[in-house]
This record gives sequence, structure tokens and C-alpha cells, in this order.
Amino acid sequence: MIRAPFQLVPLDSAQDRAAFRSDSEPLNRYLREQVTQDIRRRVAACFVALADGQRVAGYYTLASASLLLTDLPASTGKKLPRYPTVPVVRMGRLAVDQAFKGQGLGGALLADALDRASRSEIAAFALMVDAKDEAAAAFYRHHGFIVLPDSPLSLFLPLATVQRS
Ligand SMILES: CC(C)(COP(=O)(O)OP(=O)(O)OC[C@H]1O[C@@H](n2cnc3c(N)ncnc32)[C@H](O)[C@@H]1OP(=O)(O)O)[C@@H](O)C(=O)NCCC(=O)NCCS
Repeated sequence: MIRAPFQLVPLDSAQDRAAFRSDSEPLNRYLREQVTQDIRRRVAACFVALADGQRVAGYYTLASASLLLTDLPASTGKKLPRYPTVPVVRMGRLAVDQAFKGQGLGGALLADALDRASRSEIAAFALMVDAKDEAAAAFYRHHGFIVLPDSPLSLFLPLATVQRS
């Protein structure tokens, strides 16, 4: 359960992201140095959890993507149309500042991403993630994500199974 009050909103330039420190330096650097350029080029959207009004406590990114039908588990693929690919939303990055870990914020950011993806007017079959390591993959499995049979660090959650808020 999430304990501290956080606001989940799109990233904007007034927010303080300079001090953001998760366990992953590449994810910290991405938020400091790269994300605004990706947003400007429309290759990623970024959403943040704000603590104390303007401090970024966690963030994630979303973008359109597609999955090869043949990469999905056979039991999932057989229920989908016979097109070569299926549309998905990719959560490219997810990180929580060390000061806010273990308070349910990672789970709340994931729920927010699933909610945004399932509310979109543009159809997507699932939210997918490429976990950066086995610990991250375990986090997603804990939240019900399904592993792609041939790539244990790629996982998806069908959006039809998500309860909209
Ligand atoms: C992974 C990360 C986002 C989790 O954030 P968090 O706020 O500490 O996680 P939460 O407190 O929301 O945990 C929610 C649930 O996931 C579980 N969980 C957390 N990390 C887990 C892991 N590595 N494996 C399995 N379960 C995990 C918690 O036990 C909790 O379970 P509960 O709801 O049943 O009590 C955070 O540790 C982080 O930023 N890590 C560095 C970056 C990273 O690995 N990102 C992953 C994307 S590549």
C-alpha cells in the first residue's frame, strides 16, 4: 500500500529532477539529461510521482511499440488476429528514488501506467516492459506480468485484464 501522498502527473520543466537518485545510475542520468529531448521528439512520454509539491520521487516512460505474434506464448497468440504483430504500449523506464523505496510507489507508478495505457483511445493489446535485470523482472512478475517464452527479461500484461480507475 502507498503511504506518502504523491501526485502522479506528466513531467514538466518546473519540477525538481536534479536530485533524483534511484539504484540505477543510467536511469538517473536518463531523467536528468535525455528525457526532455525524447519527449520533444515524441519518442517517449514521461510521468512522475511528485513528493512535497515539486520533488520527483519516481518516474516512468511510455511509448508505442509492437510485438511479434510469434513471440507471445502460444496460448495468448491463438486468441489474437493472425497479423504478424500486435500493438502494445512499452514502459521503457521505471525508477523510484532511494528515499521513497519500499513504500508502494513503484507499484503505484506501474498501476498509473496500466491505467493510462488502458484509457487511451489508441488501442494496445498489452503493456510491455524490457526489464533491465532479473530483480526488475521479478518485480514485474510479482505484479502479474507474463514472461515472453524466449526472452525472460521481456514481459507483458494484457490490458483487457486491467481494472480501469
Ligand atoms: C523496482 C523499483 C521500481 C520498485 O519500487 P518500490 O517503490 O521500491 O516498490 P514497491 O514498494 O512499490 O513494491 C511493490 C511490491 O513489489 C514488491 N517488489 C519490489 N521489488 C521487487 C523485486 N525486485 N522482486 C519482487 N518483488 C518486488 C514489493 O515487495 C511489493 O510487494 P507487495 O505490494 O506485495 O507488498 C525500485 O526498486 C527501483 O527504482 N529500482 C531501480 C530501477 C529498476 O530496477 N527499475 C525497474 C525497471 S527496468
